Amino acid sequence: MSPVRELCEVLERRRVGEYQALTLAAPRVAEGARPGQFVHLLAGEDRSFPLRRPFSIWRVERPGAGPGAVEVVFDVVGAGTRALARLRPHDVVDALGPLGRPFDPPEAPAGCLLIGGGYGAAPLFFLAAELRARGCRVDLVTGAATAARLLDPTEAGRLGSSLTVTTDDGSAGRRGLVTDPLPELLAGTGAERVYACGPMPMLAAVSRVAAVAGVACQVAVEEQMACGTGICFSCVLPVGPGGGSGGLEPSPPENRETRMARSCLEGPVFDGAAIAWAELGYPELEELVR
Ligand SMILES: Cc1cc2nc3c(=O)[nH]c(=O)nc-3n(C[C@H](O)[C@H](O)[C@H](O)COP(=O)(O)OP(=O)(O)OC[C@H]3O[C@@H](n4cnc5c(N)ncnc54)[C@H](O)[C@@H]3O)c2cc1C
Ligand code: FES
Repeated sequence: MSPVRELCEVLERRRVGEYQALTLAAPRVAEGARPGQFVHLLAGEDRSFPLRRPFSIWRVERPGAGPGAVEVVFDVVGAGTRALARLRPHDVVDALGPLGRPFDPPEAPAGCLLIGGGYGAAPLFFLAAELRARGCRVDLVTGAATAARLLDPTEAGRLGSSLTVTTDDGSAGRRGLVTDPLPELLAGTGAERVYACGPMPMLAAVSRVAAVAGVACQVAVEEQMACGTGICFSCVLPVGPGGGSGGLEPSPPENRETRMARSCLEGPVFDGAAIAWAELGYPELEELVR
């Protein structure tokens, strides 16, 4: 579905742990939205906010089930998110969406391991519901620096067959990184697909663990974006070589070039093995699976 611009009434804004959640009446965006896609929001009407801010779609109410709404959840990090955190019910927000490439669900029911870091777990809530509707087994891992930065762990616990929680400081779940339990979870659940969203170092590590285990992996990146629609090239990410093979097969010599992909159009969801992690300063997957 093509993205649309909607002037959306704010239905609700509330705190969720250390984050802010914003529910917008957006029937046309909600109609076609798929997990992994994002909305691009104007944070204010004055000239201090010429650029929209991108946010993953956390929850969707399809028109028919209600008026049609999308919900996003965000961390307050700068002027734009501070302005969004001041919104009240009945205010109006200019939204563009749904944008970007969504996660690909498996064609047949399969075991899926979903891994989210901090607010990066947001698109995985939407994805988990879709995967379960398709008959897939869903296991979740969520991690954050502290317990307060875990995204809605109560709801996360209801989304799948199991939830594993990690925190850097040990204030909830296991102490350590969200990637620590992955090898044992991949072996224990027999998952055939991995889906992840969170900070880039986490996505690099998840892609590596999945590649070593020989499991297909898709990651949703959160690169800086300006236009969100493919015009400005501010969001490029190096992809390939080995993108087509999932990175598990050595690339043919003629296919060893990387190219820059616009993450707002070809992403934000990429095959984890298609991203040229070495060019971003992370070890190359092929070196690790050889
Ligand atoms: C596809 C996508 C989905 C995203 N989903 C979410 C989400 O669900 N929840 C959430 O809290 N955030 C999400 N982000 C990040 C969010 O867009 C930024 O935090 C936001 O734009 C910051 O705006 P600001 O004006 O408050 O901060 P600014 O004052 O612009 O910047 C404050 C800090 O945020 C960083 N930043 C600015 N823009 C981005 C950006 N586009 N991506 C990453 N970091 C940025 C800056 O480097 C700076 O450190 C997503 C980003 C992308 C690209
Ligand atoms: S944000 Fe402009 S091309 Fe991607």
